[in-house]
Amino acid sequence: MYAGDAAPPRKPVTVPMLREFKRDRQRITMLTAYDASFAAAMDEAGIDAVLVGDSLGNVVQGRRTTLPVTVDDMVYHCAAVSRGLKAALLVGDLPFQSYATPDRALDSSHRLMAEGGAAMVKLEGAGPLLECIEFLTRRDIPVCAHLGLTPQSVRKMGGYRVQGRGDEAAARLRADALAIQDAGAELLVLECVPNAVAAAITAELQIPVIGIGAGVACDGQVLVMHDMLGVAMGRRPRFVKDFLGEGGSIRGAIRAYIDAVRDGSFPDAEHSYES
Ligand code: KIV
Repeated sequence: MYAGDAAPPRKPVTVPMLREFKRDRQRITMLTAYDASFAAAMDEAGIDAVLVGDSLGNVVQGRRTTLPVTVDDMVYHCAAVSRGLKAALLVGDLPFQSYATPDRALDSSHRLMAEGGAAMVKLEGAGPLLECIEFLTRRDIPVCAHLGLTPQSVRKMGGYRVQGRGDEAAARLRADALAIQDAGAELLVLECVPNAVAAAITAELQIPVIGIGAGVACDGQVLVMHDMLGVAMGRRPRFVKDFLGEGGSIRGAIRAYIDAVRDGSFPDAEHSYES
């Protein structure tokens, strides 16, 4: 094959393209990564977005919760991942209390973007956080919000449970989702929410909704890499699927995950929650 016959490089995924994916009904694929080599394998397989999640507290550092993760940890892992990416959008998680005030949120986000190479930052919650979302987005910092099961609230919630069950909780979740969109968020991660609730929110929002344990009607899906490869420690949540078996190798598993999200075969009923 001549060099000229090689497939042209993939167009880098940008924040505005996320809404185009939603408009075109092209499901968005996202995985977490924490280092350059796995990030490069995901990028080569055609993943749309890579999240450096504060789940690194669990799967990399071996902690019971994400609460001890620091901004320094996030900057270190974002920078490593960004060196492995050519086209995928890099989203960096803001760790617990690093966005307790708008000024702290600006400082932390600035570090994730300037030192870590993130194109977007993610934060958990709505209500008092709406001020932060507005503050950041007005300063050209793209924000991904995270609602439903928000692991940084584990102490307040008393454990990791499905959220949005029952009319009242579903209505609250819907109102929060609309509020984060109004505040300027460009993307929403919905975690552990019944299918029907996630489907209604996805249909109502203009911004894309990425589900994790939120059913197939979302605009895209995310999984923690270690879950997708079946190597995470501890109890495996219902929504997790190990793709290594069917993929046959790490690269095969990544491709199998991307294909299953794009063709709508993941998540199926076995990997999601009814009301
Ligand atoms: O920290 C993380 O990996 C996340 C995903 C589970 C969405 O927030």
